Amino acid sequence: MINKGIILAGGLGTRMSPLTKAVNKQLLPLYDKPLLYYPLSILMLAGIKEILIIVNRGQLHQFKKILPEKNNLGIKLTYAEQNRPGGLPQAFIIGEKFIKKDNVALILGDNFFYGQNLTNKLIECRKLKNGARIFLHPVNNPKLYGVAVVDKKDKITELAEKPKKPKTNLAVTGLYFFDNKVISLSKKLKPSKRKEIEIIDLLIKYKNNKKLKADYLGRGGVWLDTGSVDDFYNASDFISTIEKRQGLKIACLEEIALKNKWIGKKEIIKSIKFYGKCEYSNYLISLI
Ligand code: G1P
Repeated sequence: MINKGIILAGGLGTRMSPLTKAVNKQLLPLYDKPLLYYPLSILMLAGIKEILIIVNRGQLHQFKKILPEKNNLGIKLTYAEQNRPGGLPQAFIIGEKFIKKDNVALILGDNFFYGQNLTNKLIECRKLKNGARIFLHPVNNPKLYGVAVVDKKDKITELAEKPKKPKTNLAVTGLYFFDNKVISLSKKLKPSKRKEIEIIDLLIKYKNNKKLKADYLGRGGVWLDTGSVDDFYNASDFISTIEKRQGLKIACLEEIALKNKWIGKKEIIKSIKFYGKCEYSNYLISLI
């Protein structure tokens, strides 16, 4: 069972400069909430309450303003700082003291997931005892991602990071579930050409040990990138379309916490006070 999750919210967001010069990308608005709310909502939907957020050195105060350790979400938030982005598996080295002897989920701070039955899939992945699980999803530009080749039984046979000639259109999404071996395996990784340790090399180790399982969001599942300004606005449009049509919010953290019975009316009222008079607060009022 996985009780701990890490959100990697470092990175310089250089592709989105000048927007990201003063503010961390994960705090920019993805439609009506900071981007960070979306990956956090995914961990919460999985039922994970102990969460470590890894941020760039010097940016802690920005994050704590919106998600303080003492929050109204019924979750245990801790923060760690990263000196410089050195590759995704650094999350497990920086997070060693947080993970302790447990298994752990990792989600990249800029990944957006949505879809029917997603929560059940997340809850299923959380049951992981040993090995690793990842989600694969088709994209039309696999060159930009980790790419997987699977056999007829949906077993992963090959993995490559941003291959020039991708063998499939199946990208490795930024949501990973690992057993505790991930810490020692991450420490053994050698930096790649881009001078970073690579998550794909970590996954290859699990694959070679026959310990890597692929999951799928399915055709109706949505996985969006927020890497460039255009990606960002496209994702915002998607969220705005769904929310306006349904009158339901995507990634309303308080709503998820309430449904999980982690908080009650009292905390929702505290949150309303925290946010002040705004459309998000109106939504929270409608929940109680
Ligand atoms: C990272 C991973 C890649 C994965 C992607 C998902 O890429 O290295 O395997 O497909 O996240 O968002 P990066 O964002 O570092 O380019």
